[in-house]
Amino acid sequence: MNAPAPYTWPYVDKPLRQAVDRQLDRSLSDRDGSGVIGEFEREFARFVGSRHAIAYSSGTSALHAMCVAAGLGEGDEVIAPAYTFFATATPFAYEGVKVVFADADGWGNLDPAALPGLLTGRTRAVIVTHMWGNPCDLTAIAAFCRANDLLLLEDCSHAHFAAWGGQRVGTFGAMAVFSTNQKAITTGEGGLLVTDHDPFRELALLHGHYNKRSFKEISPDAPYYRYALTGMGLKSRMTTLSAAIGLDQLAKADDIERRRRAVLGQFAAVLDGNPVVSLANVDPERGANGLYVLGLRFHPEAATLSAAEFTDRLVQHGTEFDMPGSTSVIANEPLFHRPDRKMPWTTAPDVEPADYPGAQRFIGSFIKAPLFGYPGDEQAVTHHLDTLVAASKDVAR
Ligand SMILES: Cc1ncc(COP(=O)(O)O)c(C=O)c1O
Repeated sequence: MNAPAPYTWPYVDKPLRQAVDRQLDRSLSDRDGSGVIGEFEREFARFVGSRHAIAYSSGTSALHAMCVAAGLGEGDEVIAPAYTFFATATPFAYEGVKVVFADADGWGNLDPAALPGLLTGRTRAVIVTHMWGNPCDLTAIAAFCRANDLLLLEDCSHAHFAAWGGQRVGTFGAMAVFSTNQKAITTGEGGLLVTDHDPFRELALLHGHYNKRSFKEISPDAPYYRYALTGMGLKSRMTTLSAAIGLDQLAKADDIERRRRAVLGQFAAVLDGNPVVSLANVDPERGANGLYVLGLRFHPEAATLSAAEFTDRLVQHGTEFDMPGSTSVIANEPLFHRPDRKMPWTTAPDVEPADYPGAQRFIGSFIKAPLFGYPGDEQAVTHHLDTLVAASKDVAR
């Protein structure tokens, strides 16, 4: 089998080039929401089904804004997934919030069963990540947050097209963040915070947007309007070129979704009944996958080798399967265990590693590949499918 060309992202067509070209003539820096930044934010809010969206230079900076807008700081605790990309939780640690970690369920998502045991008098919020596009059990998690008067925050970076019980993720809690770097909807680098709540929107604007915008868009009666000139001290706006790319991508969202769901459907059909690997997607009756990656679950009991060895074998045949490394258990990292947020790295605390068996089980069996679906990806899809089927046959017990 000949290896296909490597997956490239995003698909750069003529309309995308023209969008960037037009923006070069229009503006390279918007100070308020009157230009492409505002247009992109409005379209993104519509895409998610939220009242407001605010654009940032990265998902990480949007998460930071979310932490500050939620009013969380030293003395507060947030419950976060032990298994996620680090930026779900690092902005909280940066602000001195104690991050308390919950183990993962069978999808690598925060396990709602872990929540009651982690609740203290200082818990203010729960943040979830819809890992690899699979929506969390938002019914159980939202009920827990309501019952305990906690803010529910969502990291939807993997889950741009995901829904739970027919409702789009990003609309279940107080605020949500979507990273838009190498994601289903991309801006190159970037991120958005979405919310239905006006005060959260205004507080998020103070965190990273320009004062001209704050003066215009924050209600003069709000107690925090006094901060409009300086904001909260940082600047983390999205560039206009990123917003122009994002608008182009949103105009193609239906097409991106249709193509990616079709690829998932192809894998589902071919893997049906395969004892070695199955598609790692939540039951479509419960939730829709967010279309970030192609996620597979390896079944070691049905195979003669381990998930890592199986993945190596797939890679040797020119595929892009891998077992994620940069996303892992973050709970034992020293950043989350400093008694004082200003403590220098040189005196990083020794951390007695805690065990997260749910997360480890998921990590040990999860294999992913790019979720192909751009025009021209057909050969790559066929090659990945054929390799998977042949390798599964070779290693089946
Ligand atoms: C789950 C999750 N949260 C947050 C981020 C951070 O986003 P960014 O890289 O845009 O800062 C990422 C990045 O990939 C992510 O995967």
